Amino acid sequence: MNESTFPGTEHLSGQIPGHLPVPEPAQPISAPPSLPPSTPPRPATPQRSLTPPENYAEMPRPTAKLTAEDLSPVNDAHGPRNKIGPTGRPLPDLPEPKPPTKTGPAQVIAMCNQKGGVGKTTTTINLGAAIAETGRKVLLIDFDPQGSASIGLGVQPHDLELSVYNLLMQRDITPEEVIQPTRVENLDLLPANIDLSAAEVQLVQEVAREYTLQRVLEPILPNYDVILIDCAPSLGLLTVNALTASNGIVVPLECEFFALRGLAMLTDTIAKVQDRLNPKLEIVGILGTMFDGRTTHAREVLDRVVQAFDERVFHTVIRRTVKFPETTVVGEPITTYAPSSQAATQYRDLAKEVLARCPAG
Ligand SMILES: Nc1ncnc2c1ncn2[C@@H]1O[C@H](COP(=O)(O)OP(=O)(O)OP(=O)(O)O)[C@@H](O)[C@H]1O
Ligand SMILES: [Mg+2]
Repeated sequence: MNESTFPGTEHLSGQIPGHLPVPEPAQPISAPPSLPPSTPPRPATPQRSLTPPENYAEMPRPTAKLTAEDLSPVNDAHGPRNKIGPTGRPLPDLPEPKPPTKTGPAQVIAMCNQKGGVGKTTTTINLGAAIAETGRKVLLIDFDPQGSASIGLGVQPHDLELSVYNLLMQRDITPEEVIQPTRVENLDLLPANIDLSAAEVQLVQEVAREYTLQRVLEPILPNYDVILIDCAPSLGLLTVNALTASNGIVVPLECEFFALRGLAMLTDTIAKVQDRLNPKLEIVGILGTMFDGRTTHAREVLDRVVQAFDERVFHTVIRRTVKFPETTVVGEPITTYAPSSQAATQYRDLAKEVLARCPAG
């Protein structure tokens, strides 16, 4: 995998935090036998530092020039806020999503990043709940054998009689038999448990194995406006199935030091799926998660993400808060657990951005 193929980041090669320099080819250990024994030893090749660059301070910043007026709070329909958002760009004034006049066909969006613990499941649950609040019918697909999205919505994975595994592997099972309503209005769940890990192996034998999820979702697309797929932290066959079944991808990215590492592999997988399996797949947006605006570190990482992906980065950023781990314990989304919290507002803002970028949703 060539990291320089990562679109828009060629100029960043070698500067990305944690992007280690390519080592020099090994030097010969002993002198060639033709040299006389008295030849003085060659000076040692200077060792390149393997520590990540610490020149954050000198790295270029997004080009937006901030004026005092930009930074002054404004009062509009959304209440007091700054004109410049956490990504350093002017905040768009997004309309409140109108309730839909009809249901479906669903926009299918995969939450995808093979890096673990970046906020895929948290985003699936809370974005799903925020979209459901607008009156749209939403289905969340737990597509991770860890069953985290199921747990986060109060479903115990080991108690499941039927899960997404049965739907994928048994032709006589219908989606309606597996889908469960949740305590949130307009929000349904297609749950998963550890059985799904067997599907990764068993699907390899199937004809058109990459299309299995798309095939089983086909009949229920008219029943929903938005279907969100919570992918596992891998780029294996299950994730390829999720990308093949989707129109869009949201990439949650934790605002920390190694955030950009591995993204080349993800964008490469997306490009291959677009090329060979699903030409309608598009990146809906990159979402900064677990952002701590008090640290320069998090702000600098977010700056780098905006430099690399520009307009594809959502204006909404999800800040770090202990409220999210709490919601997992109670098994409900932030929008019902703490409806007026900043965290709930952020996911509602994200829902507006996602719906604006996928108008059919
Ligand atoms: N904005 C946030 N602030 C604080 N904690 C968060 C935030 N978002 C997620 N978390 C917590 O971080 C942990 C990882 O989040 P999450 O499970 O959503 O990541 P993931 O990408 O789905 O992980 P995995 O790759 O294992 O599936 C969870 O404990 C979650 O509660
Ligand atoms: Mg997860």
